Amino acid sequence: MLTMWEAVQTRISCRSYEDRLIEPEILAKLTACIDALNAESGLRFQLFTAGEKGQSIIKMSPAMFSGPVYTFAALAGGEDPLSSEKVGYYGEKLVLYATQLGLGTCWVAGTYDRNSIKVDVPDGWKVWDVIPLGYATDRIPMKQKMIRATIRRSDRKPEQFLESDTAYADVPEWIRKGIEAVLKGPSAVNQQPVNIVYKDGKVCARIWKDGRGLQYNDLGIAKKQFEVGAAEAGVEGHFLPGDGAEFIIE
Ligand SMILES: Cc1cc2nc3c(=O)[nH]c(=O)nc-3n(C[C@H](O)[C@H](O)[C@H](O)COP(=O)(O)O)c2cc1C
Repeated sequence: MLTMWEAVQTRISCRSYEDRLIEPEILAKLTACIDALNAESGLRFQLFTAGEKGQSIIKMSPAMFSGPVYTFAALAGGEDPLSSEKVGYYGEKLVLYATQLGLGTCWVAGTYDRNSIKVDVPDGWKVWDVIPLGYATDRIPMKQKMIRATIRRSDRKPEQFLESDTAYADVPEWIRKGIEAVLKGPSAVNQQPVNIVYKDGKVCARIWKDGRGLQYNDLGIAKKQFEVGAAEAGVEGHFLPGDGAEFIIE
């Protein structure tokens, strides 16, 4: 199994899936992971899976995706910013775990047919995103290659993620490693709307740019990614909840 850091390094949005079911023992691991995430977060992530090969169980936009989707997670949570951030944080935990198991994933907020799925959503909540889970095809079709190349072309440089009086090269290595992980992470339309602030010895995560209502998903994702990078450099910790909240070293 890949380490968390390797998962951060290898994960990319998978938009081309093999015609293959996920094996029962891997599905059981995904189910256990989702149960644990729900218990910890109070969110309601749900796993849907087809019993046999045939039709996709969710209609993905054919303009963006190819191949059948036999398994997906629906990420439901409250509509407020803190819930949206939580969905991002715990959803990214799921994505990285699935990556460790060798699965392809993609965060999808928009480019699927909502009417093609039936999710149990409490009053006042919504399905923020779905995450198809499956095996990436060996060869990525040209269309999906182009989609990724086009969206990721706008990548920012690591030093652009840092807000600090200290030069990028002079900030502690664990912070740079955290930023490296944030840069590698997914964000809606690759807007990369979260910066890392390093001032007076404190590290915070801050939204610097509005992101079509998904910036709090992106904030939670960036926080999870940063934690993995920092841990890789030997500093275990987590961010407090909220925009601009501080990183607490454990
Ligand atoms: C909250 C969120 C929503 C997203 N929604 C979609 C979507 O609707 N359709 C899609 O094809 N990709 C979607 N993406 C994937 C992003 O486009 C992708 O993460 C970004 O371009 C970076 O590319 P990478 O994940 O391959 O590194 C979404 C990502 C996030 C984080």
